[in-house]
Amino acid sequence: MSVTRALFDDVMVPNYNPANFIPVKGEGSRVWDQEGREYVDFAGGIAVNCLGHCHPAMVNALTEQGQKLWHLSNVLTNEPAIRLAKKLTDATFAERVYFANSGAEANEAALKLARRWALEVHGEEKQQIIAFQKGFHGRTFFTVTVGGQAAYSDGFGPKPGAVEHVEYNDLASLEAIMSDKTCAVMMEPMQGEGGVIPGDESFLKGVRELCTKHNALLIFDEVQTGFGRTGSLYAYEQCGVTPDILTSAKALGGGFPIGAMLTTAEIAAHLKPGTHGSTYGGNPLACAVSEAVMDVVNTPEVLDGVKRREQMFREAVQAINEKYDVFTEVRGQGLLLGAALNDKFKGKAREFLLAAAEHGLMVLIAGADVVRFTPSLVIPETDIAEGMQRFEKAVAQVVSSHG
Ligand SMILES: Cc1ncc(COP(=O)(O)O)c(C=O)c1O
Repeated sequence: MSVTRALFDDVMVPNYNPANFIPVKGEGSRVWDQEGREYVDFAGGIAVNCLGHCHPAMVNALTEQGQKLWHLSNVLTNEPAIRLAKKLTDATFAERVYFANSGAEANEAALKLARRWALEVHGEEKQQIIAFQKGFHGRTFFTVTVGGQAAYSDGFGPKPGAVEHVEYNDLASLEAIMSDKTCAVMMEPMQGEGGVIPGDESFLKGVRELCTKHNALLIFDEVQTGFGRTGSLYAYEQCGVTPDILTSAKALGGGFPIGAMLTTAEIAAHLKPGTHGSTYGGNPLACAVSEAVMDVVNTPEVLDGVKRREQMFREAVQAINEKYDVFTEVRGQGLLLGAALNDKFKGKAREFLLAAAEHGLMVLIAGADVVRFTPSLVIPETDIAEGMQRFEKAVAQVVSSHG
């Protein structure tokens, strides 16, 4: 069978529009396509491949567990899931963990738990869920409704109710609609898909205070910011705000699908047997891989390395910008960075992504105005340098095409 990009269009639902090349192999931060062309990977599978491709610790964990036990369902528990939950609770504010298979599922669990907690502790009136414009929480109908981009949730019929949105980093608007009827506030401590927008420290602290004042749960969606991405295991550690519920996915499995919802024992107690579940959640293969990822990521060596690499990225993009004048700023934290396009290039982020691919570099965008970088947390410094040389060629190409 000839496996081509054209065949994709013949056999796949058209909800994605992938690049023209098809990668077949990856090692560290390099990827090769069907033609043997090599790419430097600054995308990391959208903040997933936190240890690059085929990291030996992950390959070992997967093959070892793959020869022992693949799947049981939650009628039975398994050792890797219990071990991983223990490590996650030891390393965070949380005392209980629920495992899912994706970010959306972890968020779905968080929202259902918040609603159930509010109903049981405070009664039927406490239903309101507040989230933020441009937020992104996944594509299930509840999570996409809570996400702050109507374009993603419109057109599917009636939405789950009692969900409202206010502007991110605007505490006064939140305060204006919050009351004792607020069940939960869901937010990313730094918005990823919405354009790499960090939450101001005073804003995050203010949200925490309002939640405490109104007995509402604060849910941090750390699906993109979590598991080392910002230079600490979770971003909340650096902003001095502790949520009531935290969700994690993406880098949690380093490329193996897994999600998790973390919370306190008191809140967790409201998801009693039978209230929620997933056939694959806490699958032994996924948990064994995630445990191996955590053993590598949650070390000073890797977390400090994230900060060092952040500097290298910032300096390289700034140097390119001094020559070509395309960005207004590089924002973000750790290795979740966004280069915001200036007025001349606004709306053209995709052109930079396509040009980068032509020059052997994978980057991401975050909306139409931001080029986003979410590489492996352990990307070798030589790969950063090589990738930035290629990025410079891509930037030069886009600039010259606009005369
Ligand atoms: C902050 C955030 N939450 C949730 C999700 C959804 O995760 P998944 O695609 O694994 O369902 C994403 C994915 O981009 C995300 O960035």
